[in-house]
Amino acid sequence: MGAGALGCLYGYFIHKAGYDVVFVARGKQFEALKRGLKVTGLVEDFVRVNAVDKPCDADVTFVTVKSYDTKDVAKSLRNVDCGIVVSLQNGIGNEETLSKYLKRVLGGVTTYASNLIDYGWIEFAGMGTTFVGRMDGKVDEDVLKVVEVLRSSGIKAEAVDDIAKRKWIKTAINSVINPITAILKIRNGAIAEIEELWNLALAVLKEGEKVLKSMGIDVELESVLRDVVTKTANNKSSMLQDIERRKRTEIDYINGAIVRKAEELGLEVPYNRSLLLLVKSLEKFLTYNQS
Ligand code: PAF
Repeated sequence: MGAGALGCLYGYFIHKAGYDVVFVARGKQFEALKRGLKVTGLVEDFVRVNAVDKPCDADVTFVTVKSYDTKDVAKSLRNVDCGIVVSLQNGIGNEETLSKYLKRVLGGVTTYASNLIDYGWIEFAGMGTTFVGRMDGKVDEDVLKVVEVLRSSGIKAEAVDDIAKRKWIKTAINSVINPITAILKIRNGAIAEIEELWNLALAVLKEGEKVLKSMGIDVELESVLRDVVTKTANNKSSMLQDIERRKRTEIDYINGAIVRKAEELGLEVPYNRSLLLLVKSLEKFLTYNQS
């Protein structure tokens, strides 16, 4: 559900493994996928896929739509038998939104990297791992089933009992990489190459760590950030891809989530707040310029 860059990458692997995969997309992406899916980068391939523009029955539904579309998607999935629902989305709050309308919702965190080069064409830009778990931490049959589907499709996957914590950690990493790359229009690797940018990155990261610590998640993320930036050096972050397409970004669910949580906890996060305002201004500026 939401066959964009990441959805198509997962769909591609699961389809290649012989599972019956339906790619749910909209507009130009739906039209392009009807002709097939081209994959370049770490894999070179072209496959015919089953593309539709409405939700359908499934044993497992992977949700990869943008966070601001989650509510509408959740409502539309109520009309079908969507089986186990796995959110592989960036940001905070998606599983909670899905759970308001659907049963059997799982959280997912992925470090795979994929770029949408054009409609119907993705670049597989980085290998990673997929963590899957229930938000309450219980590792049940649904979690194990999803992990089995992923592994048998050649996707690295692990069942975990702390997915909620992992979502916050990934969000703290995204809160650094995504807005900086989107504002400066640079690939992820540049963050570690320019001293001033790395210093800015660490200042943003420290605020995320402070919020996480107050939530009981005591982690030091500098080495994690360096690792993600290095492994995805050639990748355009999802936020940069959105800005380049003049689309709304997920800033409200990433830095916005950190700012809201900080307010709740009585903490100051000025770097996150500034990045939030800058990206929101950028979104408006690009929209105004379009008309
Ligand atoms: O949103 C993204 O682009 C990805 O989560 C990440 C890890 C920053 C890689 O580009």
